[in-house]
Amino acid sequence: MNKNSEKISGWKRFMKSLTKAHDLGTEEDIMLDHDYDGIRELDNVLPPWWLAGFYITIAMSIFYLVMSFGFNKYNQYDEFNDDVTAAKEEIEAYKAANPQLFDDANIVAFTDAENLAKGKELFTAKTCFICHLADLGGSIGPNLTDNHWILGGGVKSIFNTITNGGRPGKGMISWESTITREERIQLASYIISMQGTTPEVPKPIEGEVIWPEK
Ligand code: HEC
Repeated sequence: MNKNSEKISGWKRFMKSLTKAHDLGTEEDIMLDHDYDGIRELDNVLPPWWLAGFYITIAMSIFYLVMSFGFNKYNQYDEFNDDVTAAKEEIEAYKAANPQLFDDANIVAFTDAENLAKGKELFTAKTCFICHLADLGGSIGPNLTDNHWILGGGVKSIFNTITNGGRPGKGMISWESTITREERIQLASYIISMQGTTPEVPKPIEGEVIWPEK
């Protein structure tokens, strides 16, 4: 016997121990005596690899049974409820940490370059410039660079105007359904950042509300 054939027979022995397959040629020993129209049946044993898996599932089921009823651990209802409670706490913590994202009363204007750039981009992309002009000097809509406001200055009022529109029939529609909440805050922040700039052809002052007061 060379090394190779030893390996093969070792492998074969291993497979045999896993399957306990009956040797070919000796089927007569395990042949059952039924005969179904010429079809006959061998009484093979259950393969050990399969039996081992089966016994493991039995052991696991007993383990879980004891753990859940005996020690009240690994109970799927409790695990589910714990997960839901933990998730709710995370949501509340996130809301508490980011109030401006959820409550209009807590909106804070962005001041960082990225959000202001986004606001500027939206001012063009969402057609605001058509009525307010690209330098916010005003044409159909009022000048947005002076500190006189028809509907109120400050981030909350400006956000509110963009969200709900101006006075009926004036031409400033509600943008709530077409511009996301965050984008409306970005737009309001951009408008605020343009306060006090000098447009090329500023539209005369409109509105009684002064913001910011300087
Ligand atoms: C069709 C023209 C038009 C477009 C487009 C338009 N606006 Fe207006 N906007 C107006 C008019 C007109 C008013 C004045 C409303 C009033 O008198 O009630 C106004 C008012 C405003 C005000 C309040 C100004 C104040 O003095 O209180 C803000 C802020 C504003 N617009 C922002 C925007 C933004 C942001 C966009 C783009 C999403 C936009 N507008 C698009 C016409 C327009």
